[in-house]
Amino acid sequence: MTLTIAIDGPAAAGKGTLSRQIAEEYGFHHLDTGLTYRATAKALLDAGLPLDDEAVAERMALEVELSGLDRSILSAHAIGEAASKIAVMPAVRRALVEAQRAFSKKEPGTVLDGRDIGTVVCPDAAVKLYVTASPEVRAKRRFDEIVGNGAVADYAAIFDDVKKRDERDMGRADSPLRPADDAHLLDTSEMSIEAAFQAAKSLIDAALIKKI
Ligand code: CDP
Repeated sequence: MTLTIAIDGPAAAGKGTLSRQIAEEYGFHHLDTGLTYRATAKALLDAGLPLDDEAVAERMALEVELSGLDRSILSAHAIGEAASKIAVMPAVRRALVEAQRAFSKKEPGTVLDGRDIGTVVCPDAAVKLYVTASPEVRAKRRFDEIVGNGAVADYAAIFDDVKKRDERDMGRADSPLRPADDAHLLDTSEMSIEAAFQAAKSLIDAALIKKI
C-alpha cells in the first residue's frame, strides 16, 4: 500500500522546502504540483499563446511531463502569475490532477504539495498538512529569497502580490485553496525551517502510528 502525505498552503508559506525534507526523511517520492501549473503556463508564454483560452491551455497541460519539471527553469515571477491565471480553468485542472493522482500511487510512498492535494487530488491521503504563515512573513521570505539571489526586490510590491495570489487561489470556483476538514494546521510564522520540519515530522509520525 502506498502512503501519501498531502501538503497544502498559500504562496511562500514554505511548503516546498518542507515537502522536500519530508520526502527525504521518509524515503518517499516528491511532486511539487505548482510546477505542473507553471510548466503549462511557460509552454503558453513561450509559444506566444493567450492565457485565457481554456482549450489551448488544456492541450498544453496534457503534454506536461512530470519527470522533466525543474523549478529553476520555472521560477520566474511572470510564470507564477500566469500559472495562477490558468489554474482557474477546470479543463487544465482535470488534465494536471489526473497526472498528479497517477504520481501519488508510486511505492513506497509519496509527498505531494500544492493547493488542493488534501481536498481534491488525494482526499484519502494518510496525512494532510496545511502550512501557513502570515502574509507579512510570507512576503518577507520571498523578499529575502530574491535579495539572497543577488536581485533587487520591492517589499511593498511583493506583499501586494502575495495578497493578490491568495485572493485568486482562495476565491476561485474550482478547487479553491482551503484546508481539508481532516488537515493538521501548521502555522510557521514564528518558526525556523528546522522547527517547521520537526513540527511536521511529529504530526506525521503521530498520524502514521494511528494508521498502523
Ligand atoms: O509561487 P508559489 O511557489 O507559492 O506557487 P506554486 O506552488 O509554484 O503554484 C503556482 C500557482 O499554481 C498557484 O498560485 C496556484 O494558482 C496554482 N496551483 C494550483 O492551483 N493548484 C496546485 N495544486 C498547485 C498550484
